[in-house]
Amino acid sequence: MKSSDSNTAECTPGATFTDVHCHCLPGLDDGPRDVSAALALCRALAADRIATVVATPHQLGRYDGRYNAKTIRQAVTQLNELLTEAQVSMNILPGADIRIDERIEDLVRSDEIVTVADGGRHLLLELPHEVFIDPEMLLARLREGGLCGVITHPERHMFLAERPQYVRRWVSYRPCLQITAGSFLGGFGRRSQEAAWAFLKEPLPLVVATDAHDTAGRAPCMSQAYQLLRRYVGRDEADILCVENPRRLVAGESLVMLNVDADRRTGR
Ligand SMILES: [Fe+2]
Repeated sequence: MKSSDSNTAECTPGATFTDVHCHCLPGLDDGPRDVSAALALCRALAADRIATVVATPHQLGRYDGRYNAKTIRQAVTQLNELLTEAQVSMNILPGADIRIDERIEDLVRSDEIVTVADGGRHLLLELPHEVFIDPEMLLARLREGGLCGVITHPERHMFLAERPQYVRRWVSYRPCLQITAGSFLGGFGRRSQEAAWAFLKEPLPLVVATDAHDTAGRAPCMSQAYQLLRRYVGRDEADILCVENPRRLVAGESLVMLNVDADRRTGR
């Protein structure tokens, strides 16, 4: 295992997960419509052995100007109160799934957009689905400002899914790739599934998250993905992807790189 920190991952079997990408706040974006749906999603997350969730409603793109960082933080506080009342053992932290935009650095400075767990270090960055806009310059500028970009679900992006090796050109800016748990299971189609496994070979730190929106079509499936990853890449690497790196992202720490033999990372 290679690590930018000296610590190595130590995870116990049955450990709970941290989910760094989840649309669980009620009534903000295309996540749960109301409080009752949000509670149902949180119960599904708890049943999936997820104990800490970064709430990441969309910011910018088609949600530009609809709600700001303050609204997201208030919604997180309210959801935590509801979860306590409902006796659901879960901690929700603030975050956002931010559509890439040339204003991002200014919006971070003016506290309009939310970093992962409000830690001021990592920023989830979503590429537009329809076209490929290379985030290289943005990643470089963020890096200069002490921020790490986390590119969300590259395996579901048409351009990157077919060219996973493209991400190597970003290595010097030290971004992270967030792969969706459901993609390993085929939940987003065969191309995304193959790409999810292919990204495990790339020399960037990786983190697995649910990107859950509801309890039906976009329900959390971290435990199932973790079991599959354990089977194909081994327990240590599955722990890095699903337990250790999510924890580090929330803590604002450097992420651990995978170190399995590339030939084993096929998932088939
Ligand atoms: Fe998302």
